[in-house]
Amino acid sequence: MNTLTDQQAAVDAVPLEEIDVSRPELFQNDTWRPWFARLRRDAPVHYLRDSDNGPFWSVTSHSLIKEVDTNHQVFSSEVGGIAIVDLDVINTEELQGESFIQLDQPRHGPQRQAVAPAVAPKNLVELEPIIRERAIDILENLPVGETFNWVQEVSIELTGSMLATLFDFPYEERHKLIHWSDITTAVPQVTGDDTIDMAKRYEELMEAAGVFYQLWEERAAAPPKFDLISMLAHGEETRTMNENPGLFLGTLLLLIVGGNDTTRNSISGGVIALNEYPDEYQKLRDNPKLIPNMVSEFIRWQTPVIHMRRTALQDIELAGERIKEGDKVVMWYLSGNHDEDVFKNADRLIIDRPNARSHVAFGFGIHRCMGNRLAELQLSVLWEEIVKRFRTVELVGEVTRLPNNFIRGIKDVPVRLHPI
Ligand code: HEM
Repeated sequence: MNTLTDQQAAVDAVPLEEIDVSRPELFQNDTWRPWFARLRRDAPVHYLRDSDNGPFWSVTSHSLIKEVDTNHQVFSSEVGGIAIVDLDVINTEELQGESFIQLDQPRHGPQRQAVAPAVAPKNLVELEPIIRERAIDILENLPVGETFNWVQEVSIELTGSMLATLFDFPYEERHKLIHWSDITTAVPQVTGDDTIDMAKRYEELMEAAGVFYQLWEERAAAPPKFDLISMLAHGEETRTMNENPGLFLGTLLLLIVGGNDTTRNSISGGVIALNEYPDEYQKLRDNPKLIPNMVSEFIRWQTPVIHMRRTALQDIELAGERIKEGDKVVMWYLSGNHDEDVFKNADRLIIDRPNARSHVAFGFGIHRCMGNRLAELQLSVLWEEIVKRFRTVELVGEVTRLPNNFIRGIKDVPVRLHPI
């Protein structure tokens, strides 16, 4: 089975009612394209009666995803959580995580507003020189002439150091933040990996909570500063958050996962994309001014958050389908970003694509990604510094991806650098 046309023909032969786009292996093997293409064409609002995550609706077209995402009166983030995996699977009895990404109004707004200034444009201006300094440091120390894993040496390092900056977390312990982010989304229903030790995960998340409590107390006792923990500890709406362990840990983990996995995979995805489309790489070398648009195109092409889930609070009709109160509704951002009705040659990377910014990778409505400008800034600064130093970041081996239906995770990107 070689061509995309062959794959599409095989997928088209599968009865519609059996299609399950939540299977983690679709993302591990990167074979999701024909499945979503089929749903967009034949059933953009599609019901699956049974799956590892129970029955659910899939919403796959760009316009319908926007419609669901902006209708927070009907589609709740609070009732069942924001992932296809139900909240009671992610939470254990001892650990009931809660954070504003999984709150509806009126509770959502004030909590978001308490944290948002940390990533507002004014603060980003302050952050830019630090991001640049760290990016340069990482790039200058890469092993030129050797094959190495871009994910480990660049994507993880850069986002890890950014997280340490945002939290004012001890820099030499920044790898802990990365580890906590990794294990937060790693539950068997998301990754398909039954061997995950949930007891160990719980223990490690408790260790994270302990470290954050200590930092919280230090920051609460000191004058307010411009890091996320200090802002929460002094914020009008959030200063008692530490009295609610689930909310406390949930919010901090949201900020870690939100700012880590996503940006990391956009950095890795960009290198893969440019290698897949060398003529686009040439466009970049010819005109580095394309970087801001290229960054949006990377985020569209990669779509680091594959889906967000909602639960219907009432019966509603969507594109002729009757969704019932209590039904699980999954917006597949990855599919929306490859919708040919909006993006011509959607599977292709086009770094000067005029409407790259119309992607749905940051969501829409009240939950639209709070860190989107920060993510764009990190990616732009990194690529500005890369093109100054390297003619090509050449992909020289097999890319490996993670079996995860929530985060589009990339594990290995073996590369070689070709300095200018
Ligand atoms: C390319 C990188 C990123 C992508 C693709 C991404 C994607 C998303 C998506 C899809 C949502 C949910 C949107 C919705 O439900 O409508 C979201 C929410 C959020 N993101 Fe990001 N994100 C990225 C980077 C970041 C960064 C760097 C931060 C750091 C602070 C961050 C923090 C958050 C927070 C706090 C929320 C919850 C917002 C709310 O519920 O009001 N994200 N992000």
